[in-house]
Amino acid sequence: AKGAAMVTAVAYRLADQTRQIAQTLAEFRLSKAQLLEVKKRMRTEIENGLGKKTHDSATVKMLPTYVRSTPDGTENGDFLALDLGGTNFRVLLVKIRSGKRRTVEMHNKIYAIPIEVMQGTGEELFDHIVHCISDFLDYMGMKSARLPLGFTFSFPCHQKSLDAGILVNWTKGFKCTDCEGEDVVELLREGIKRKEMEDGEFDLDVVAVVNDTVGTMMTCAYEEPTCEVGLIAGTGSNACYMEEMRNIETVEGNEGRMCVNMEWGAFGDNGCLDDIRTQYDCAVDENSLNEGKQRYEKMCSGMYLGEIVRNILIDLTKRGFLFRGKISETLKTRGIFETKFLSQIESDRLALLQVRAILQQLGLDSTCDDSIIVKEVCSTVSLRAAQICGAGMAGVVDKIRENRGLDHLDVTVGVDGTLYKLHPHFSRIFHQTVKELAPKCNVNFLLSEDGSGKGAALITAVGCRQRAQEAQ
Ligand code: GLC
Repeated sequence: AKGAAMVTAVAYRLADQTRQIAQTLAEFRLSKAQLLEVKKRMRTEIENGLGKKTHDSATVKMLPTYVRSTPDGTENGDFLALDLGGTNFRVLLVKIRSGKRRTVEMHNKIYAIPIEVMQGTGEELFDHIVHCISDFLDYMGMKSARLPLGFTFSFPCHQKSLDAGILVNWTKGFKCTDCEGEDVVELLREGIKRKEMEDGEFDLDVVAVVNDTVGTMMTCAYEEPTCEVGLIAGTGSNACYMEEMRNIETVEGNEGRMCVNMEWGAFGDNGCLDDIRTQYDCAVDENSLNEGKQRYEKMCSGMYLGEIVRNILIDLTKRGFLFRGKISETLKTRGIFETKFLSQIESDRLALLQVRAILQQLGLDSTCDDSIIVKEVCSTVSLRAAQICGAGMAGVVDKIRENRGLDHLDVTVGVDGTLYKLHPHFSRIFHQTVKELAPKCNVNFLLSEDGSGKGAALITAVGCRQRAQEAQ
């Protein structure tokens, strides 16, 4: 009888544990009504960002980009492009040829940006960037060429023209001093000058500063003219789209359209998503480089999903449900769960034993039960990410549809980003959510190949053409 009582006690404890874990994860499961609410709030924030009176206090900044049209195929020439702010820093040479057989040829080299540079002084960052450009030109054997350069700088910038962008604030893992409030094109030009003073002849012509979402949209629009939206679901999360000039009250003029960099990562910074944020979201925010900022991004982008997972795992371990109740040093380490690990853990083709092997690789000793729980935590967090990202996008495409007074809109969204590309379920759930929440829009998704670099070059080509026209 004593044995039976013990078995019952264990069974009871297990059932209770399962219930408590389910309860913890239930907070992440959003109903359709909640997702529709997220969509609606995004629409409100969009209007606030666009409005003259509301812009200054708006959280979703809706920044004008001075990109007024998508490419038309006449773009031509050789360009340098820089891509800063994603998973890798790259320098590229892009050769665009117009005519009957349009071609784009690209050469690029990836460079590391050490964490000391990402979080050092602005001067160090730009010296490093210029050093990499110079190395690239050497590598390509074209040291003395003075090519027009497009700078993909994937952070919020206030633009007053195509070739000037004042950094509003750093996001993601960057925090260099003396850059916020400065024109990053100027900072780059100063870096180029310093290099010239040191080494002699070195000059570059910076023509455009471009957000990665805009580069992605332009790259896809080059192949597919119905592409009028760009999305990044990667290290960070953001979108851009072609907005009617008459609606962009922060820019003079009412004719035509302009691409707006939404900076939707900051959605929720005024507290409007507080009802769906969990204690784990708050913990991730508190431990970040930019507390209180980019709250939506912290719920749905690659740089933070692993951190949400880690915080849940710590809590479950503290409560004795995981890892035999022992919080290891590894589990205390920030950033251990990169997108690629989450993607592996959630892959359907992976047996539980392999999940355990991955955890082992990370330095986490797990039992079979542990691995089941870890996998469930991961899929719950990424499900919510894909859904709220989809809710935001549903708000955007519906806005475009209403702008044009249509009952039905066909539109293409150009997409890039490691989370979208690597994760086994993110893209599917994201598509499904957009479809459900914006039933009057038929949204087609196009993966961009090398969007940031190619797009920067396309925009630079347009910039050069505009300059030539103005000079006439
Ligand atoms: C962050 C940046 C934004 C960028 C996005 C994706 O949200 O603020 O400019 O587009 O990350 O890289």
